[in-house]
Amino acid sequence: MKARVLSGMQPTGNLHIGNYLGALKTWAKIQYDYESIFCIVDLHAITVQQDPARLRAKIEEIAAIYLAAGIDPKHSAIMVQSAVPAHAELAWMLTCVTPMGWLSRMTQFKAKSAAQETIGDGLFQYPVLMAADILLYQAAIVPVGEDQAQHLELTRDIAQRFNSMFGDTFVMPATELPAIGARVMGLDDPLTKMSKSSSGAGHAVALLDPPERIRKTIMRATTDSNPSVSFEGMGPGVENLLNIYQAFSGCSDGEIRTAFEGLRYGDLKKRVADMVISHLEPFQKRYREITAKPGYVAGVLREGAERVAPIANSTVELVKRKMGLYSADSRKA
Ligand code: TYM
Repeated sequence: MKARVLSGMQPTGNLHIGNYLGALKTWAKIQYDYESIFCIVDLHAITVQQDPARLRAKIEEIAAIYLAAGIDPKHSAIMVQSAVPAHAELAWMLTCVTPMGWLSRMTQFKAKSAAQETIGDGLFQYPVLMAADILLYQAAIVPVGEDQAQHLELTRDIAQRFNSMFGDTFVMPATELPAIGARVMGLDDPLTKMSKSSSGAGHAVALLDPPERIRKTIMRATTDSNPSVSFEGMGPGVENLLNIYQAFSGCSDGEIRTAFEGLRYGDLKKRVADMVISHLEPFQKRYREITAKPGYVAGVLREGAERVAPIANSTVELVKRKMGLYSADSRKA
């Protein structure tokens, strides 16, 4: 049996090139080497307040983006977290073995809670639900961007703690980060991570932005006070642009150096914009084709949930048995 891959994205904001380079691109590349499950984590989205109609629409938008990025529904399961109740069920069981101290150390919780007036308990439990997503499928590989690495460490800690309390139950999941593009920075502020929730114009290139907008955003990107690229010393803005180019193009470090050393920033930006647009135009065309087929995306999601539910349910049964809860077996007995 092939090892399993699982990853997911929240159906919030507009997916951007950071989400693509940090995660989605890897998913499409490695999917056939594994049994692959890609989730749309709507239960995570509601840890902060969402407009219900918008959330509902976003779920199918994200699914269509997965498909347009090359996730093959004949091979990989694409599913919505809330369509498989075992996610929430396992999350509760894991919550009960997770010390609060572990959760209060999570940097994303600290950052997100600082921005909220009222902090829902769900925001605190967020990483436990993420651990449940992964452990439910005994996933061996979790391809994500760098900002999720701490959550993955916590997932392993929870799995280890559960295994030592109740006996070997969970596979230890490994974090898979891309060599280039694991942390794409904001184009307006290269010291902060490119983020879906930042609304500032000029911050991110969204995957569905029209080409002229993409060009404008990249041409306005923050650089530094030098006139041209120097590999002897560059500011974070220039480094970010070069990383974006390298991640999309697949060029080696040597090729990047040869192509860009001494190039004026205006020309650098033009080349980055051309590279990004040349990748996103065919992607957007596929997105339009996918969303033009009525009912297609909903069908993919239904089929994905049906395929993964038996795996999820059998893990929940196993965990219930281990913990002494009333499992299907106990009901039969
Ligand atoms: P989310 O929805 O914030 O982001 C989705 C994926 O995109 C990556 N990413 C980035 N990569 C590079 N540069 C950036 N600027 C950037 N911004 C985001 C993220 O690392 C992520 O891989 N908690 C997760 C969702 C989740 C999940 C899971 C992931 C829930 N359950 C189980 C893996 C496995 C999140 O909020 O991702």
